[in-house]
Amino acid sequence: MKTIMVIGAGQMGGGIAQVAAQAGYSVILNDIKDEFVERGLGIIQKNLSRSVEKGKLTAEDKEVIIGLITKSTSLQDAVAADLVIEAAVENMAIKAQVFSQLDVICPEHTILSTNTSSLPITEIAAFTKRPDRVIGMHFMNPVPVMKLVEVIRGLATSDEVYKTIETLSEKMGKTPVEVNDAPGFVANRVLIPMLNEAVCTLNEGIASVEAIDNVMKLGMNHPMGPLALADLIGLDTVLSIMEVLHEGLGDKYRPCPLLRKYVKAGWLGRKSGRGFYNYQ
Ligand code: CAA
Repeated sequence: MKTIMVIGAGQMGGGIAQVAAQAGYSVILNDIKDEFVERGLGIIQKNLSRSVEKGKLTAEDKEVIIGLITKSTSLQDAVAADLVIEAAVENMAIKAQVFSQLDVICPEHTILSTNTSSLPITEIAAFTKRPDRVIGMHFMNPVPVMKLVEVIRGLATSDEVYKTIETLSEKMGKTPVEVNDAPGFVANRVLIPMLNEAVCTLNEGIASVEAIDNVMKLGMNHPMGPLALADLIGLDTVLSIMEVLHEGLGDKYRPCPLLRKYVKAGWLGRKSGRGFYNYQ
């Protein structure tokens, strides 16, 4: 395993590219537009500069890490990849297109993985002729900080591919946890309904945004309150995961109307400057 292509240079893809390069892999950072790749690279540069300022990284090491990342706006560049980690938008039609193209472009040995937060790995694998070499690698936000990678086996994922990804995740400084393919896997099946419940609690006027977050921070020792965390993840992402849980697991997982309202208003959390908190 030498070269990793990361598709999607947003907050997740950028973070994955950073930790892969920090682990010494050559990284191809891909997105549909040059400006998206540049923005992702800019965030990586900023994160690494902060580590240099804190004395956790030397300036030389920072340059070596940046030098391992090449920019790409063409999926054809996947021809050089031993592993692809797809972190594009959470839309099955787009994933279908990306994975069927990757299957044609990539050499036989290339493993195709997805950072999807809730879409079925087995269905994504079925868009390729190599379902045994397709696997889920679900990183947590912010990627450079969070230790977990959920490694999700699709129905046909081979043991060899699972082992390779487990070892690679460890080399990237993460702790892999094996889970099977089911709506929301483990992390989001447990976490996202709690965030949704916090939104319902707000919607019913039981407490203010700050009060709800304080209860969970001070009472449960959570590093962030659920509404601040929803803003960090992105309210559109929280809603789309709730919809997957609702469809797959039933009415218990119905998204809160206030969450839908915020998403319709374009209040998506930190990335749009406004969510349950104001970031402008
Ligand atoms: N990128 C890179 N590094 C970051 C960062 C970011 N976006 N945000 C914080 N950090 C780093 C800081 O630089 C700092 O590093 P040092 O220890 O080297 O100084 C460290 O993280 C701690 O940051 P802060 O002191 O600024 O703040 P904090 O102690 O409050 O930690 C936090 C921030 C790590 C985000 C913490 O609040 C936390 O763990 N929050 C919960 C995050 C969480 O639950 N993530 C999972 C979301 S669910 C998900 O991702 C799955 C999905 O599919 C939706």
